[in-house]
Amino acid sequence: MLPWKQVWGAFCLIVILGALSLSPVQCRTSNFQAVSDYQAINCRKHTALLTDFGAVGDGKTSNTKAFNSAIQHLSKFASDGGAQLIVPAGKWLTGSFNLTSHFTLFLHKDAVILGSQGDGRGRDAPGGRRSALIYGTNLTDVVITGNNGTIDGQGPNWWKRFRKGELNVTRPYLIEILYSDQIQISDLTLIDSPSWFVHPIYSSNILVKGLTILAPIDSPNTDGVDPDSCQNMRIEDVYIVSGDDCIAVKSGWDQYGIAVGIPTEHLIIKRLTCISPDSAVIALGSEMSGGIRDVRALDITAINSESGVRIKTAPGRGAYVKDIFVKGMVMKTMKYVYWMSGAYNQHPDDKYDPNALPEIKNINYMDMVAENVTMAGQLAGIDRDPFTGICISNVTIGLAPKPKKLQWNCTDIQGVTSNVSPKPCALLPSKGDDQGCPFPEDRLPIEDLKLKTCSLKTFYP
Ligand SMILES: *[C@@H]1O[C@H](CO)[C@@H](O)[C@H](O)[C@H]1NC(C)=O
Ligand SMILES: *[C@@H]1O[C@H](CO)[C@@H](O)[C@H](O)[C@H]1NC(C)=O
Ligand SMILES: *[C@@H]1O[C@H](CO)[C@@H](O)[C@H](O)[C@H]1NC(C)=O
Ligand SMILES: *[C@@H]1O[C@H](CO)[C@@H](O)[C@H](O)[C@H]1NC(C)=O
Ligand SMILES: *[C@@H]1O[C@H](CO)[C@@H](O)[C@H](O)[C@H]1NC(C)=O
Ligand SMILES: *[C@@H]1O[C@H](CO)[C@@H](O)[C@H](O)[C@H]1NC(C)=O
Ligand SMILES: *[C@@H]1O[C@H](CO)[C@@H](O)[C@H](O)[C@H]1NC(C)=O
Repeated sequence: MLPWKQVWGAFCLIVILGALSLSPVQCRTSNFQAVSDYQAINCRKHTALLTDFGAVGDGKTSNTKAFNSAIQHLSKFASDGGAQLIVPAGKWLTGSFNLTSHFTLFLHKDAVILGSQGDGRGRDAPGGRRSALIYGTNLTDVVITGNNGTIDGQGPNWWKRFRKGELNVTRPYLIEILYSDQIQISDLTLIDSPSWFVHPIYSSNILVKGLTILAPIDSPNTDGVDPDSCQNMRIEDVYIVSGDDCIAVKSGWDQYGIAVGIPTEHLIIKRLTCISPDSAVIALGSEMSGGIRDVRALDITAINSESGVRIKTAPGRGAYVKDIFVKGMVMKTMKYVYWMSGAYNQHPDDKYDPNALPEIKNINYMDMVAENVTMAGQLAGIDRDPFTGICISNVTIGLAPKPKKLQWNCTDIQGVTSNVSPKPCALLPSKGDDQGCPFPEDRLPIEDLKLKTCSLKTFYP
């Protein structure tokens, strides 16, 4: 524990509401600047500026040490009301850094965190993966937010080296949180991740809100948000342009995922807008070997995307994708509205069990309108293992000038439809025009999570 004096000297602390006075020597009152209030799962008692740890926001100086030492110092306040680290306006180049518990990383609206190309820490051995730019493990109560400040992964150089086969490590993700509870990632612009953008794994009670996620539509593996073996998660008001799936729900791969056996469940996605010409708006799988269940998606907008909702699986995956509910989706310029692939035969190695068949059931899609669609449904189950309980209702699909002749191609599936045009395949017979599909009536606990208004008044250097 640092002595108090040293703490006050090292950080420039805060006056909440201007009501408290603080030891006048340390703080530079001349440039007092109220940043703004913000909404978070928890507010913090202590505050520091990144610049108090020697950071330089010129876009060239590496600030890896500043981030790590700032967070290491602030971790000491975890049991005393927590702490927030403010990233001021400027361009802050950094390698990977680790978050801590009861902690908020707040980005000023003109702050840009730039992921460095070289000084990332972590598992650099071949076959390993670089640590994510912003990394957290075994944490409780962490907020990454801002006034729409930016985190830029500087992906182009990584993508170039990846395409040329020059990389001997797997590209890092932008934000990765493992084994953690109570996470908020909100009100930020995330651009050009080297690989996936936001990857919570083995975590629970997660709020992802108000993100703008941007990567070129031809960039490799730039998934937007990947809930992976996570429980009770809410994604809302997110705008994603990506070269890969906008949201990819996962839970482990083949025998490795089966052994861990942690599902993604109780996930709600609301007000997502997605542009992803080569991938899905919402993908379920292909890694789903811990199971995926109780996913609810509402008010989704898709523009120029390959598929609306896609289920990807294969023999060897085991587990299940079940109790999926998607309601209210507007789509414009799509290759497929619905796509299910039971032969997504990518495996980590050849040790998977071909008899580990996934159970795909109770999949519900309702209240959708699509325009300029090439093919309504490409729905392929697995021959020994049909996908069952598919329900599609109140869906109007307008076709592209040159649509596929066969609009619904169905094999090894079973289900019903109502009020769907064009007319679905024989394996999805109509159950009458006024019969909808089920949608849960209860609310998920994460839907009732209330945010607090946190005051952020600080002294700028
Ligand atoms: C970050 O956390 C990882 C995993 O616990 C650890 O290996 C790494 O050394 C940590 N890095 C720093 C800078 O503390
Ligand atoms: C994090 O938690 C997991 C699961 O409880 C545990 O296996 C792992 O050892 C923990 N890691 C650290 C760095 O504490
Ligand atoms: C955040 O910034 C992005 C990129 O400049 C912009 O497109 C988006 O509209 C902004 N969001 C908000 C809420 O201001
Ligand atoms: C990986 O590549 C980098 C740069 O291309 C090189 O410096 C490093 O030695 C390589 N590491 C291994 C383990 O091959
Ligand atoms: C059908 O879906 C549209 C949205 O596409 C919605 O406005 C309408 O209320 C739905 N009709 C019924 C009967 O649910
Ligand atoms: C319709 O989709 C085609 C691709 O299938 C695209 O080239 C065209 O621009 C789209 N038309 C409109 C009006 O969006
Ligand atoms: C229909 O789906 C089956 C099974 O996936 C596939 O083999 C076939 O090529 C598809 N036919 C068309 C016309 O898309």
